[in-house]
Amino acid sequence: MKTDELQRLLEDMTLEEKAEQLVQLHGGFFGDVGTITGPAAEFSMDADQPYRTGSVLGEAGAEHLRDLQDRMMAKQPHGIPALFMADVIHGYKTAFPVPIAIGSGFDAELAEEIASLAAEEAAAAGVHVTFSPMVDLVRDSRWGRCMESTGEDPYLNSLMAKALVKGFQGDDVSKPGKVAACVKHFAAYGAPVAGRDYNVTEICEHTLFEDYLKPYRAAVEAGVKLVMTAFNTIDRKPCTTNKRLLRDVLRGDMGFDGVVISDYNAIGETLNHGSSYDKADAAKKALEAGCDIDMMSDCYLGSVVRLIREGELDEKLLDEAVWRVLVLKNELGLFENPYKDGSPENEKRVIFSERHRELGRRAGAETAVLLKNNGILPLGDSGKIAVVGELTQDTRIVGSWSIFADTSKTVTLKNALCEVVPNGKFVFVGNDDPTDEEMAEIGVCDAVILAVGENEIPTGESMSVADISLNKAHLRLFERVMSCNKNTVVLVFGGRPLAIPEIAEKAPAIVEAWLPGTLGCLGIADILFGKKNPCGRLSMSIPYCSGQLPISYSQFMTGRPKPKTDGFVRYVSNYMDVPNHPLYPFGYGLSYGEAKYSPVRLSADVLKKGGVITASVDVTNDGGMEMKEAVQLYIRDVKGSVVRPVRELKGLKTVRLMPHETKTVSFEIDEPMLRFYDADMNFVSEPGEFVLWIGHDSGTENGRGFRVEG
Ligand code: GLC
Repeated sequence: MKTDELQRLLEDMTLEEKAEQLVQLHGGFFGDVGTITGPAAEFSMDADQPYRTGSVLGEAGAEHLRDLQDRMMAKQPHGIPALFMADVIHGYKTAFPVPIAIGSGFDAELAEEIASLAAEEAAAAGVHVTFSPMVDLVRDSRWGRCMESTGEDPYLNSLMAKALVKGFQGDDVSKPGKVAACVKHFAAYGAPVAGRDYNVTEICEHTLFEDYLKPYRAAVEAGVKLVMTAFNTIDRKPCTTNKRLLRDVLRGDMGFDGVVISDYNAIGETLNHGSSYDKADAAKKALEAGCDIDMMSDCYLGSVVRLIREGELDEKLLDEAVWRVLVLKNELGLFENPYKDGSPENEKRVIFSERHRELGRRAGAETAVLLKNNGILPLGDSGKIAVVGELTQDTRIVGSWSIFADTSKTVTLKNALCEVVPNGKFVFVGNDDPTDEEMAEIGVCDAVILAVGENEIPTGESMSVADISLNKAHLRLFERVMSCNKNTVVLVFGGRPLAIPEIAEKAPAIVEAWLPGTLGCLGIADILFGKKNPCGRLSMSIPYCSGQLPISYSQFMTGRPKPKTDGFVRYVSNYMDVPNHPLYPFGYGLSYGEAKYSPVRLSADVLKKGGVITASVDVTNDGGMEMKEAVQLYIRDVKGSVVRPVRELKGLKTVRLMPHETKTVSFEIDEPMLRFYDADMNFVSEPGEFVLWIGHDSGTENGRGFRVEG
């Protein structure tokens, strides 16, 4: 539809019709079961009113949505098509590894490919908008939604945000196989006090802008069409009615002009927060703050028209919000084709295609992280191998946000091993408390594959824990198995980093398997038997214990930095009982064979005004298998007008190396990459001493100093 026609449509709409365009309800209000992703809600509305709302939450399926679209448009006074929005977070029917694993791929191209194939399936099923990517920075694995984020680092999450938005949206959301993306949850939802979901956040302005806002900014720069507000407060104000956050920061500073949608009943929940007196007050505050769509509350439905009629609310605010919703529908081409490319024929052609299956397997291999290997891996095909633990036969490994996944297609680790090594001599012990006879069988095997950790149930929304230790049953199982067979490879499943110091100390090999999705176990089996070289790198630090949380490699010196010594040192910043550093740091991961780095070479030691320094290393694959290496650039600004982190990821290049091949990898250091929010919150760089490192993970010491001229 042309813009002037759209403008005329808006002018012709009644107040009631405009208010209804800003309401989103789940399928339960349309006589369907509905995908319930929040607390139950009862609203007083007439039977037809749901059909006059502007968008629907959580419905999918081409036939179903074509029928629902027909039913809704028939009730719309101007026949305006509805938007169908759903949580296609990391796959639709084919669930790819959970986002914390995707982040551990350290590969933006892989992330884009995953989003693109997820969009193809979702669009074929009639979905118009996906509530993804979730880019919340996560540094506290007590929080259940770590699994949904691509990790702890602003740079990596920004890289992933851009890639995922591009994958979902392409360059034109109206094209077949593309959906509009919705970045969430704005903002800093991943930093709840005490790691408890929905809790307040207490972060300063510098931390908010320096760390937590950057990935959302990246998504906006990538052209994301929607932003979802978060449940938490920032600066003691709920995000959904936080005018400074939404109008000044998101729309002003970041220049976002798309649709802002609340999270599930987040407008209504400002009454619980105690910052809104009633639903009318909540509606007024949310619309004035710039929240366009009210998901699953009846605040807008019940109050906006009356507030405008009584002169309490400016109709211009309503028109602005409705205009953005109409523009989004127009960008998707819905006025011309309300079904977009949702059709049973497309579903049949696209869903679970060979490309989806290949990528699902490859993503499993490229996002798992080899944490330890004394040489036992890769396993040979000929030995007798025990495969132990309930998780080895559990299909609940696709992630708690894989609402639409076809779990009948999920390949368990057991089935994956049988497919990858069809003549393998496996002894399957699919429980966590083997009998003495089973232990005896395990004892005579050449090796053991032991699965511990969590399936998808204890992670995801609201699944917070106070203790991230590995559960006691699995610790006991590990001790028992190790006592009868030392050649044990431990796979750790789960959506959050778990504290595994006991396993790290004793196991000869450990793989962080995350929640690998529908076909990811095939990729993990490919790693275990040397068909693929592991290349995953931790997108989130693995701590020694809950007491270290929140934790990140990007820490600060403090006034009393701990010297580089083991053990407790009095009167400096450290613990008496555990080290300051995590068990395994951000960016860490092993491969078969080692990537050897030359010392860093610099084209100059001083960065002059407007100049560039080229920093290079030679990277050599010293192993016998092709290797994919995530070469990481870290920089430290030694002195600043505010304290600066001991290092920050500032560059990432993926390089593929054949056995014994050497490649030179270079990064250009320029002034813009050194900018930060100074004492007065100006985004500037400051002259002085810097250090840069190029290496394998956030702990690399392969570095050089350089200076920036004033
Ligand atoms: C949930 C989640 C959000 C999701 C929304 C719709 O409460 O917080 O991530 O997109 O509701 O299902």
